[in-house]
Amino acid sequence: MELISPTVIIILGCLALFLLLQRKNLRRPPCIKGWIPWIGVGFEFGKAPLEFIEKARIKVAFWTLAYVLSHPDIHKAIMEGISSVFGKAGKDKIKVSEDDLENLLLIKWCVLETIRLKAPGVITRKVVKPVEILNYIIPSGDLLMLSPFWLHRNPKYFPEPELFKPERWKKANLEKHSFLDCFMAFGSGKFQCPARWFALLEVQMCIILILYKYDCSLLDPLPKQSYLHLVGVPQPEGQCRIEYKQRI
Ligand code: HEM
Repeated sequence: MELISPTVIIILGCLALFLLLQRKNLRRPPCIKGWIPWIGVGFEFGKAPLEFIEKARIKVAFWTLAYVLSHPDIHKAIMEGISSVFGKAGKDKIKVSEDDLENLLLIKWCVLETIRLKAPGVITRKVVKPVEILNYIIPSGDLLMLSPFWLHRNPKYFPEPELFKPERWKKANLEKHSFLDCFMAFGSGKFQCPARWFALLEVQMCIILILYKYDCSLLDPLPKQSYLHLVGVPQPEGQCRIEYKQRI
């Protein structure tokens, strides 16, 4: 008992310090977390860094693929688009150019619609000098939090918000690099995610290559997202198996 108590106290102390540091660092970009305090996914990354990055990229694309596959009409339209740009989908090597991406606008809309529905739970700012918002003075030191996840579910800005409707993105002026009003998955103002267009491009390319090379279908219904993830991409609550066959 005498030996256990100091060990338990040290473990609890470390855990409390870890949680405190996590709270202090609320404005970090979405990241892939592990269950080991401080080390996170460090071991996994250290073992095979490039493989880890590729797996992470395929994950940022998971929800788009799942949404597309669970909407047969959209899946069919996307496959027709891919065939019209690259010829019959198969195992040939293809290069995806900027023009090709422009011709496959539906895929871009699907990616954006997925990000709208699976946006980060909160974006946080610390008030450094008192600021007036709607007649209230917010004192310095307070944390201001905005929830893109819930904002994107406000029917005033996004009619039928729970539905996956890529065509709502027709109204956005994407050529001028502007999203739909009140779309805040990448933040807003001066300090938006600096990699937002790069991230979109990567997911688009990943989806095109997967659908071109593989015949995919969902084996499980589209899972709900877990409500436990506040930052980063919400995780699926249940399993979502995808069957894939290489095209010949
Ligand atoms: C769909 C994917 C992504 C989403 C939804 C996303 C979203 C965000 C959000 C909400 C922020 C915080 C903005 C704020 O505080 O107002 C942020 C910041 C940031 N993101 Fe992303 N991001 C994504 C992909 C990426 C990628 C792929 C990279 C790197 C290649 C990246 C790099 C960063 C960096 C460096 C910041 C910090 C910027 C700063 O503090 O000034 N993000 N991102």
